[in-house]
Amino acid sequence: MKYITESALVALTAFFGLASAAPAADIESRSVSCTVTSYTNVAAAKKACTTLVIDSVVVPAGDTLDLTDLLDGTKLTFKGTITFGYKEWSGPLVSVSGSKITVVGASGSMFDGDGSRWWDGEGSNGGKTKPKFFYAHNLDDSTITGVTLKNTPVQGFSINSSSNLSLKTITINNKDGDTDELGHNTDAFDVGSSDTITIDGATVYNQDDCLAVNSGTNIVFKNGYCSGGHGISIGSVGGRSDNTVDTVTISDSTIVDSQNGVRIKTVYGATGTVKGVTYSGITLKAITKYGIVIEQDYENGSPTGTPTTGVPITDLTISNVKGTVSSSGTDIYILCGSGACSDWSWSGVSITGGKTSSSCKNVPSPASC
Ligand SMILES: *[C@@H]1O[C@H](CO)[C@@H](O)[C@H](O)[C@H]1NC(C)=O
Ligand SMILES: *[C@@H]1O[C@H](CO)[C@@H](O)[C@H](O)[C@H]1NC(C)=O
Repeated sequence: MKYITESALVALTAFFGLASAAPAADIESRSVSCTVTSYTNVAAAKKACTTLVIDSVVVPAGDTLDLTDLLDGTKLTFKGTITFGYKEWSGPLVSVSGSKITVVGASGSMFDGDGSRWWDGEGSNGGKTKPKFFYAHNLDDSTITGVTLKNTPVQGFSINSSSNLSLKTITINNKDGDTDELGHNTDAFDVGSSDTITIDGATVYNQDDCLAVNSGTNIVFKNGYCSGGHGISIGSVGGRSDNTVDTVTISDSTIVDSQNGVRIKTVYGATGTVKGVTYSGITLKAITKYGIVIEQDYENGSPTGTPTTGVPITDLTISNVKGTVSSSGTDIYILCGSGACSDWSWSGVSITGGKTSSSCKNVPSPASC
């Protein structure tokens, strides 16, 4: 292992020329180790270093901490507090891609989005344009461990077009967004068009979905703690380029002080598939809207009340989902199109404290509202 200092890295950069693609394979075989503290050196470092520490970097306004196309097998460590300048733009603030990448947030490290600079209560529906936070797009055969995001302007992790990616002990702390309800659409994990994704041991305080799976296969979310948001969601499914959700297992997780617990929503008039979803071992506490909500009537982000049948929900397992809904909420709400929900398994469901819905439709046995 060769360790190069940041000043040596600058010299190396001058030698290769920043723009010229340095012979990656050649550099990789040298197993170069670098620590970067200055944003301007990141671009060179990612082409030269297979052990890369990003320490307390200040990312300029309107720039992405661009760690895409890392060398195969790169070990990437974030240290200290990483901060971002303020600009109204759509981001992302951080982007990581590559193959066989090991990403670690060192103990005490964090990405501080200082989201209050953007928060206006409108999220992605209006007001200021807010940057998305962390893209894990095209990140394959890789792991992300121990990363902390604080105060995301809007959505946190976006996982898209990735396969065999594991996220372990991730923390997203957007508690400050509760003040005057200014934080909005601060989804913790959005997953699309990805295969074999595991999110294990996440701790989330936010104001929107803890997890939203829009499409993808073989997705696991386990040992999670979700507080303050909209629950653990599949969907909304339909109306995108990829409308297939197949084999998602959500287990051994707790959802507290949230609008919903378990949620599946599909889009009105759209086509697609929601197949093989399991929720098991879910504890709910102080849910304000729905303990379990499954509906096939979404349009432009809102329920229409009229379910359609183009995105069937089949082979669904709800097992051991227990806990409490506040008295103004509803324990369970299921709104399916005729014949569009089938092959459901439903056991150990005990949700109390809220109202019993009288508007459920086409509920497949053995489920009940
Ligand atoms: C999945 O990724 C891990 C690294 O996180 C790797 O060890 C494993 O071989 C990968 N699995 C497959 C099937 O490629
Ligand atoms: C995933 O990325 C594709 C390609 O960029 C895009 O079309 C799609 O909308 C994304 N999916 C989600 C759910 O964001």
